[in-house]
Amino acid sequence: MKSIASAPGKIILFGEHFVVHGTKAILAAIDKRVTVTSSFTNNKTIKVNSQLGSIEVPISSSHEEVEHRLLYNHKTEFRPFVYLANKIINSEQNASGLEITIDSDIPIGVGLGSSSACCVAAAGSIFGLFKELSSEEILNLSIEAEKTIFPDTSGADCTVCTYGGMIEYPSIEKIDNPFDFALLIANSMIPHSTKRSVEKVNKFKENNEERFSQLCDLETKLIDEVIADMKNNNPNTVRLAMSLNQEYLEEIQVSNEKLREMMRSLQEDPLCLHPKITGAGDGGCVIALVAGESINSCLETVRKKFTASVWNQDKECFSAKIDTKGVVWSTIEE
Ligand code: PMV
Repeated sequence: MKSIASAPGKIILFGEHFVVHGTKAILAAIDKRVTVTSSFTNNKTIKVNSQLGSIEVPISSSHEEVEHRLLYNHKTEFRPFVYLANKIINSEQNASGLEITIDSDIPIGVGLGSSSACCVAAAGSIFGLFKELSSEEILNLSIEAEKTIFPDTSGADCTVCTYGGMIEYPSIEKIDNPFDFALLIANSMIPHSTKRSVEKVNKFKENNEERFSQLCDLETKLIDEVIADMKNNNPNTVRLAMSLNQEYLEEIQVSNEKLREMMRSLQEDPLCLHPKITGAGDGGCVIALVAGESINSCLETVRKKFTASVWNQDKECFSAKIDTKGVVWSTIEE
């Protein structure tokens, strides 16, 4: 039997970083996916295959032993898969070994939710081999798995990758895409570490307690206004709010000159106003909301600009639509 689950990547429209400190956020799933396929083996091992390489570790209830193997093989990014596989195998008497294969079209480490989508798809695929699952169970397992690489996660990313669509977090209320926008995503190709960026923001908070608390209040107010503007079909005020959110992200120091230069390039195009960082920042991607009918001409202009500029040459730019499916999972008898 094979168990297959796929989950979408994501962007954060509003509230990254502040959400870790209890504010709301607005996120959307995007039409780029990761697929995880799991099957039983007789080997008493957990084998994980992905674009990043492969690892095979013995099934073990010892956390230290698993950790040692992953560190020794430089594959700590595989922790969530091994964690989930060990968790179910250790609770199932008849389980033997597992082989887990990951296929992803989500760029890695640039704020598009590749790690969260992997955790969600892995939870659905691995646990789907053993039992019937609900989306809520998949979400809870995926957050547990994500905590093995990033203990401070807000859980927002796994939530949107599970349920799909555009959502307010933590309420998980769905928000319609009222003015048919498409997402323009420009990848700085600078990988970032979410953990490091979040630690940096924690330091900022420690040193600027009062201002950080004001920024959290401002972010909450902004998100409440954006939700009302979306309902009232006000695309321009939503875009302006993105610029304001970007100012807050600049203030907590998760931006840098390369990202600002990219945002200035985008901003010169009248179809592509008010870009902002999405995700942890310090690298990764910037996004802009573009009217659906203008996205292709906008992409063309931005790509030409990137090719012409020495500064932006190695960047990539693409469009994305909002994914409405979230995680999907099924089993196949062989
Ligand atoms: O860059 P990403 O995709 O890892 O997004 C991180 C978002 C943060 O708000 C910075 C962290 C979190 O857990 O919400």
